[in-house]
Amino acid sequence: MKTVILGVTASIAAYKSLELTRKLVKRNIKVIPVLTPEAKHLVPPLSLESLSSHKTFCDFFSQNESIIHISIMNETDIIVVVPSTANFIGKLANGIVDNLLLGIVFASDKPVLIAPAMNKRMWNNPILSLNVKKLKKLGFYFVGPARGALACKDEGLGRLEDIDVILEEILSLLEDKKDLAEKKLLITLGRTKEYLDPVRFISNDSSGKFGLEIAKVAKRRGAEVSIIAGYTDIKIPSFFNVIRVINTKGMEEKTVKTIKNMDVIIMNAACSDFTPKSVKKDKIKKEKGDITVSLKRTKDILSLIKLKKAKQLVVGFSLDTKDIVNSAKRKMKEKGVDIMIANPANTVGCDSVEMTILTPGGKVNRFQKMSKSDAAEKIIDTIASFFSNRNINR
Ligand SMILES: Cc1cc2nc3c(=O)[nH]c(=O)nc-3n(C[C@H](O)[C@H](O)[C@H](O)COP(=O)(O)O)c2cc1C
Repeated sequence: MKTVILGVTASIAAYKSLELTRKLVKRNIKVIPVLTPEAKHLVPPLSLESLSSHKTFCDFFSQNESIIHISIMNETDIIVVVPSTANFIGKLANGIVDNLLLGIVFASDKPVLIAPAMNKRMWNNPILSLNVKKLKKLGFYFVGPARGALACKDEGLGRLEDIDVILEEILSLLEDKKDLAEKKLLITLGRTKEYLDPVRFISNDSSGKFGLEIAKVAKRRGAEVSIIAGYTDIKIPSFFNVIRVINTKGMEEKTVKTIKNMDVIIMNAACSDFTPKSVKKDKIKKEKGDITVSLKRTKDILSLIKLKKAKQLVVGFSLDTKDIVNSAKRKMKEKGVDIMIANPANTVGCDSVEMTILTPGGKVNRFQKMSKSDAAEKIIDTIASFFSNRNINR
């Protein structure tokens, strides 16, 4: 089990440490909360204790805790300070150790991730900028701050970064396997919309969740990830490079343009196979009787990639209502895909998946129903093993 020391300082955003604790614990990560004495005014230690199921530390001189800042390190993988005040950053950068959390960070040989949160003028203060620069140079990791509405009713840069973004940074630092390091990976995700008129379209229920889970795992394992996204029901974290498209034509154009520099191409987006022959400029009127819409085939992007690809590893997704694996095998052959993921139609928009991974030489690996994040790990394992086998064959 991985262990994180969660340092919390006296920022107005301190209550968000509760959400982070909950999300870390849900991922089976042990959380040891450590508050600065001032942070106790802003977040109740008992809440952190309850959510983490671990004693919350705070004071240097509490009973039996006199050398806790040294002993605690043996059982810790990383330290995160979420949120971090300007005061904490200033003290750390200048070697001041006058509370337990500073003592722990000072005595640490583990990675330390700092998530600042403060008013925009505080964040822009040149003294703070120097302190942050110094800490970054010394190897401390930073995430955020984000831009947006601030607690003081101001707007600007200083807000605590999204908890999901911070969580992702923590998971990346905790990940031991970096088997996609230096690999450039492109993933398409979400759904396309093929408009009939300015307000009506043909689409599907694909949420983009599976694609995003795969993108996150790839990033944690060291890949540089680019995303081409159609419409999604999920928020794509700001640390990803995202190109947005509307329809299958847009997806095709952006994909073909981007693949050249990639090592891995994962085509997870649910693109429409058909598009209206013509798009009406004005809304189609509700007149008496039925209407007929003529559809034409869109281009098959996987087949286009086959024509262009040189060295890239191509991963395709095949979804069907019947004969799922055979249909995926046929498409794999026709489209020149290296790895094909076959999944049933009920995967769409759902949090779990019952997938089959097809690899070259007709190998079929069927998996029980599992969460999309677990399935994403299996897919990235397959991609990574492909690279290690290629290296062995060279
Ligand atoms: C209600 C309240 C909210 C505060 N929010 C912040 C903040 O978001 N960021 C910050 O740097 N300081 C903030 N401060 C100031 C810090 O609490 C102050 O600098 C304190 O000494 C920090 O202690 P610590 O760094 O040991 O936790 C706030 C103070 C108060 C009273």
